[in-house]
Amino acid sequence: MTKRERILVTGASGQIGTVLVQELRSIYGIDQVIESDIKHPGNSDGPFVGLDILNAQRLGEIVDDFEISQIYHLAAILSANGEWNPMKTWNVNLNGYLTILELAKEKRIDKIFYPSTIAVFGKTTPRSLTPQHTSMIPETIYGISKQSGELLSNYYHLRYGVDVRSLRYPGIIGYQSLPSGGTTDYAVEIFHHAIKDQAYTCFLAENTTLPMIYMPDAIRATIELMEAPSESIGVRTSYNLAGVSFSPSEIAAEIKKHIPEFTTVYEPDFRQKIAESWTESIDDRLAREQWGWQEQFDLARITEDMLFHLRGIL
Ligand code: NAD
Ligand code: SER
Repeated sequence: MTKRERILVTGASGQIGTVLVQELRSIYGIDQVIESDIKHPGNSDGPFVGLDILNAQRLGEIVDDFEISQIYHLAAILSANGEWNPMKTWNVNLNGYLTILELAKEKRIDKIFYPSTIAVFGKTTPRSLTPQHTSMIPETIYGISKQSGELLSNYYHLRYGVDVRSLRYPGIIGYQSLPSGGTTDYAVEIFHHAIKDQAYTCFLAENTTLPMIYMPDAIRATIELMEAPSESIGVRTSYNLAGVSFSPSEIAAEIKKHIPEFTTVYEPDFRQKIAESWTESIDDRLAREQWGWQEQFDLARITEDMLFHLRGIL
């Protein structure tokens, strides 16, 4: 590190933000990482500012006041919630991101992190080992807004030299925080119900395989990407990133090894159609080759670690 970083995290009160902020603070120092959200994080141990990402003036003031050098832009509305209000989702996810990119251009912010998603894929995309560069016709407003964000990232990099880095996160599983409004949320909920009720009603069908990743792997990937030398970053839209792929019945079977009385019922709802429009597994060779990505958690390790930690919390 050659200079003292000042980092702004938007959407910091969410599933990923609450964990990412802790990790960034352990690296850069508590006061160097500023949390922001429309919602207070609850038990924050450092600076927090209220910010609606659509308020460009307030965002500019925060960047000036705190002399921000990097932004992790997590604020968004996810896939399932997005379908309840497509206009708002487009506005927050796309126009909110544009305020960040414009600011990065004008104020010369050193680096931006933009989280993309497997929701950018669609039914024309190869479902197995989805390539980095492929056909993408997303069917949710969330996927459409995130894919547009990927294109804007690339454009602002090429046109204005903004150093924006991005990952297409799979569904994220963690014990530290709860997901909100996504299609992959079942993979966190199932652990909570397994411990509390020994039973779970899953909103996806039992054989719906999706790409997933464990929180520590996702956080490490994010920071490793942000710390990689600029010349090693060959993809400025967003990198494919793989952790592990499994279906609801496979994760239920893994949990059953630890909680034999655990039972699962499958009652697919509107999220099934969303899941079916995504892919099953991801080819992330470019991330591995260009900046050394390597996941550490498979389904067995995720299950063991989730149950261990949640038993101490719930
Ligand atoms: P989350 O829904 O848990 O958190 C998002 C946060 O954004 C919330 O705290 C919310 O209050 C905030 N927010 C919403 N509208 C806002 C606005 N107008 N101004 C400021 N803040 C606002 O989401 P998450 O799971 O933590 O995801 C973070 C990012 O990662 C998102 O951009 C999401 O698209 C991406 N992502 C997440 C996953 C996953 O499985 N969690 C997978 C792929 C990509
Ligand atoms: N986990 C996210 C969702 O289900 C994918 O971006 O919306």
